[in-house]
Amino acid sequence: MDIDAVKSEIKGDIGKEILFYDTVGSTNTVALELAEGTEEGAVVISDSQEKGRGRLGRSWVSPPGLNIYMSIILRPRIEPEHVTLITILSAVACTHALRKTTGLAITVKWPNDLMVSDRKLGGILTEIKTTRKEIVLAVIGIGINVNMEAGDFPEQIRMMATSVKNETGKSFTREPIVLEILNETDRWYKVLHAGQKKEIISEWQRLTSTLGKQVLVTAGQETYCGLAEAIDDGGMLLVRLPTGETKRISSGDLTVLK
Ligand code: BTN
Repeated sequence: MDIDAVKSEIKGDIGKEILFYDTVGSTNTVALELAEGTEEGAVVISDSQEKGRGRLGRSWVSPPGLNIYMSIILRPRIEPEHVTLITILSAVACTHALRKTTGLAITVKWPNDLMVSDRKLGGILTEIKTTRKEIVLAVIGIGINVNMEAGDFPEQIRMMATSVKNETGKSFTREPIVLEILNETDRWYKVLHAGQKKEIISEWQRLTSTLGKQVLVTAGQETYCGLAEAIDDGGMLLVRLPTGETKRISSGDLTVLK
């Protein structure tokens, strides 16, 4: 990847420093290890990952030369219970960037799946270090399937996963997508720091395909089935159960029921 081409068009603080590797275990792990010695906004990118990690202990398929695997180091200093807001912000930034650079009608499935034609094209794994009062470090790990073909996906996820190439029939260079994601993240991170959480939430609500649908959510040991009504100011999902009760869910695995 031509990292200098990306760096030369970075607009804000996010992406001024980019550490590029041919291969790592996981860019999130590298970012967590390097975070102390780096400025806020530093980014770790790798051409491949040997132990790419997804949410809920899953692995992330990360072959070389095809996709985007990157982790952004932030120090947001917001309350730990607002962590979902960081993922929401990143999902908004990635959706804008992907719509602009690929022309695809990307939507967000709560909280962090980047979807097109009901299949997952990308995902976000946010990992944090906190004190009791605030998030002192957040690593936003972003994986985007760019040039993978259907046959490159393991059989178990082939029906659920897709890539930019799969959807458009064309190969895409990765640099413009990386650049746009970093510039959009910078833009929305400034919105967060300006105290305009509501603006991020309402943009996410505009870009999501989850709200207004019947959903099944597994959160820890619990499973809830109901209507996905909204997300609250902290990014938690509000699900109205058939009993009329509303459940507030901070993280979990969501399936949209047809
Ligand atoms: C998910 O949807 O489960 C989240 C996937 C996140 C994958 C990215 S790839 C770059 C970064 N490094 C990792 O090990 N995971 C994230």
